[in-house]
Amino acid sequence: MRHMTDVSKQESIAAAGAVYYLFGATGDLARRKLFPALFSLYKEGKLAEDFAVVGLARRPRTNEEFRQDVYESIVEFCRYKADDQQLWEKFAEHFVYMPLDINNVDGFRELGKLTLELDAKFGIPGNRLFYLALAPNLFGPVSFNLRDGGLLETKGWSRLVIEKPFGYDLESAKKLNDQLSQVFNEEQIYRIDHYLGKEMVQNIQVLRFSNAFFEPLWNNKHIANVQITLAETVGVEERGGYYDKSGALRDMVQNHLLQMLSMIAMEPPSRLHPEDIRDEKVKALRSLRPFASDEDVARNVVRGQYGAGALKGKELPAYRQEDSVALESKTETYVGARVFVDNFRWAGVPFYIRTGKRLPVKTTEVVIEFKNVPDNVLFANRHDLSPNLLVIRVNPMEGIYIKINAKKPGSDNAIQPVVMEFCQSCLIGINTPEAYERLIYDAARGESTYFTRWDEVAQAWAFVDRMAQAWKEETSELHGYAAGSWGPARMDELLGEDGFFWWPVNGQDEDNVIWISGSPK
Ligand code: BG6
Repeated sequence: MRHMTDVSKQESIAAAGAVYYLFGATGDLARRKLFPALFSLYKEGKLAEDFAVVGLARRPRTNEEFRQDVYESIVEFCRYKADDQQLWEKFAEHFVYMPLDINNVDGFRELGKLTLELDAKFGIPGNRLFYLALAPNLFGPVSFNLRDGGLLETKGWSRLVIEKPFGYDLESAKKLNDQLSQVFNEEQIYRIDHYLGKEMVQNIQVLRFSNAFFEPLWNNKHIANVQITLAETVGVEERGGYYDKSGALRDMVQNHLLQMLSMIAMEPPSRLHPEDIRDEKVKALRSLRPFASDEDVARNVVRGQYGAGALKGKELPAYRQEDSVALESKTETYVGARVFVDNFRWAGVPFYIRTGKRLPVKTTEVVIEFKNVPDNVLFANRHDLSPNLLVIRVNPMEGIYIKINAKKPGSDNAIQPVVMEFCQSCLIGINTPEAYERLIYDAARGESTYFTRWDEVAQAWAFVDRMAQAWKEETSELHGYAAGSWGPARMDELLGEDGFFWWPVNGQDEDNVIWISGSPK
């Protein structure tokens, strides 16, 4: 299968040797995602022997303790087992730990000395990858100290990898970006949106631009609407403190949902080059119709917050009862919206997007609903025909299916909806590379396609800021929904106003549909 960039032709080749600096090395992201990703890359030969990982955090830890943390994280979270003792020991040798106060430049100078030792020990050609798994207010201070501590004076490359949230709104994001730009140029900054590292999100482009039969139909003449669902069963878990300030709009819509939307809506890039691809995504984001007024937001956007409920027989508390959440909190745990991409391709096609915590299933799916065949001709005359669908299943099941109408065998032209499915998860299991593996690997080889460029981030903030502004005025309602339900009923009404409804997700299509390949469940 062809991928989007020329660089990916070298996919089996190890990334250039580098020192990886993990700021926030004792945190949750490092434990759940980053250590396991590094181990998978090593196991697959995408990291050769010329690398070192320096764990950095405030608390003291010896190298041995740090390696033990790494080991435990791999045992718990990695898709590969650490059962080859020799391999594990060789891998672990590359890990060292240094306690660091990020506000003190002297510590950074020490880090510089350690770096030279690591370069010499592992034959690293001076490349530096700074991974900031930190709160965004620390990005600026760390960048300044990296510069002032001399860490950027190297004969190799230096790259900065940062996690979301990138700001709280457009204004704060700009400030943050201004700080980073004093130290790094845009080409050195790799902003992670881990959804872009997911196999099926990357597959959207392959599907669109390498098949003859999708692209000719990919427009307002043939597509009735697009539905993007990013549903989660989890609540806010132990992240109430962060989430109560952020909410679903900033946590999911500004980034993951709008990124997926831009991949669906973008024009074909002129070349398979990161900048050309990202140029097209920005254009799609720029074409989003801005909300004209608070009333416009109220008409087209639904915000909700979960109340007490039940999921799979388990009683669940209301959002306001969760740890670190204010008792009177008005933070949304659900956002649904009808948005339009005002360009020639998409004029008039509603994009319905929704995301929420404590919904009935964990699933991310894109449903493209095609327009019906003309009314009152041939079969449409005699049947209530179901529209054709193209469904992209992103997470956790990966695959694609199309729904078509076919003749029921043996009948007198009775029509039966049939699903034809490419179930990637059924074929290769759920063992596809984790998003973080792909993203770390890409950052280490300078492949920036699946990282968000500043203008994309800024555009997305400008779009969601208008919603947040309306909510501040409290002119729009905060709808309640029971934990374990599909969110506020208002969102269904909104689709109903246009004569549509949410298609079932998670392979739970109507009973009379025949599935003709691997199990969707
Ligand atoms: C993160 C959000 O970016 O994405 C979380 O901060 C959310 O709130 C998570 O749970 C969902 O990611 P995934 O890959 O599990 O769908």
